[in-house]
Amino acid sequence: EQIEKGGYDHFMLKEIYEQPNAISDTYRGRMRVAEGIIKMAGIDDNLAKLLNAKRILIIACGTSWHAGLVAEYIFEELVRIPVEVEYASEFRYRNPVIHQDDVVIAISQSGETADTMAAIKLAKERGAFVFGVCNVVGSSISRETHAGAYTHAGPEIGVASTKAFTTQITVLSLIALKLAERKGTISNSDFHYYLQELERIPEKVKLALESNEHIKLIADTYKDAKNFLYLGRGYNFPVALEGALKLKEISYIHAEGYPAAEMKHGPIALIDEQMPVVVIATKKGHYDKVVSNIQEIKSRKGKIIGIVTEGDETVKGLADHVIEIPETIEFLTPLLTTIPLQLLSYHIAVMLDKNVDQPRNLAKSVTVE
Ligand code: AGP
Repeated sequence: EQIEKGGYDHFMLKEIYEQPNAISDTYRGRMRVAEGIIKMAGIDDNLAKLLNAKRILIIACGTSWHAGLVAEYIFEELVRIPVEVEYASEFRYRNPVIHQDDVVIAISQSGETADTMAAIKLAKERGAFVFGVCNVVGSSISRETHAGAYTHAGPEIGVASTKAFTTQITVLSLIALKLAERKGTISNSDFHYYLQELERIPEKVKLALESNEHIKLIADTYKDAKNFLYLGRGYNFPVALEGALKLKEISYIHAEGYPAAEMKHGPIALIDEQMPVVVIATKKGHYDKVVSNIQEIKSRKGKIIGIVTEGDETVKGLADHVIEIPETIEFLTPLLTTIPLQLLSYHIAVMLDKNVDQPRNLAKSVTVE
């Protein structure tokens, strides 16, 4: 097992550090930046079906559901097709309205999640076209779906999903870009620019990983907190949910993710000097609004950990700590903002002496209801 961990103390840490390669493995062979081409067999073979979709339904559980939420923002922005994201466990039992011209995208790292599988069967019975985004090659879900795209993240052993999340977002971004280019909902020059930016993400993830020692110090400061709040807006709202899930599952600290503006509708009552609040405040994406949310937290003495774009001075002046990430286009920011949140939860769990790779009560794939 030590050998399999490749010199890292835990699989989770190894998998966090594998993300630059995992992301490039995901787009390699699919994206030709110089020529401005995205080739994905599962998409190319079903292009008419996908382009004519009146609606996209995304079904998944857990972290994969969070990737689905990021995809909702990306698809609606780039492709202008309405998207709904559903927990597979809710979808399968609520007699959902499904039309023949709906496209269902099922996301699952393991490809074995029971609720996601049941939701796929239901969608198929009602005539929908179902596209799978799985990591495990030959898994049950990859076989049950009409078509699909693998994430090519390599084996994910840690129960806490890390590289599966970022590679799911990468695949879903490729799909959205391809459809947007074909539909003409983005300009040719934007399409080329977005491909270039996606190609730069692995290098930027490496830079984000360089904050590891700084994040360890922050983890040490807050490891004894009883609660954490995670806030983000737009593309980074799902990242806030994912950051909170990571902390909960491996450190057993209660954490909640919220869209930052929802804070004043309830959670703000929780904020006092004991409450660490992780705020994703990157330069693009409602930056000024997030800064005013930070001011609200500060005036209630909450402890602020800001995830900011490098060079940011405004949030630095307000927050107790900042963690910088490189700049990128807005819809790709989740691929970078997620990194420090993974490291923060990892270090807190290690410091609390928890079983990082196999947290209590959890299984890597949930094959029963
Ligand atoms: C994530 O850290 C979790 N362990 C869990 O939420 C997981 O994402 C969920 O069970 C879905 O699994 P899947 O992607 O294999 O379907």
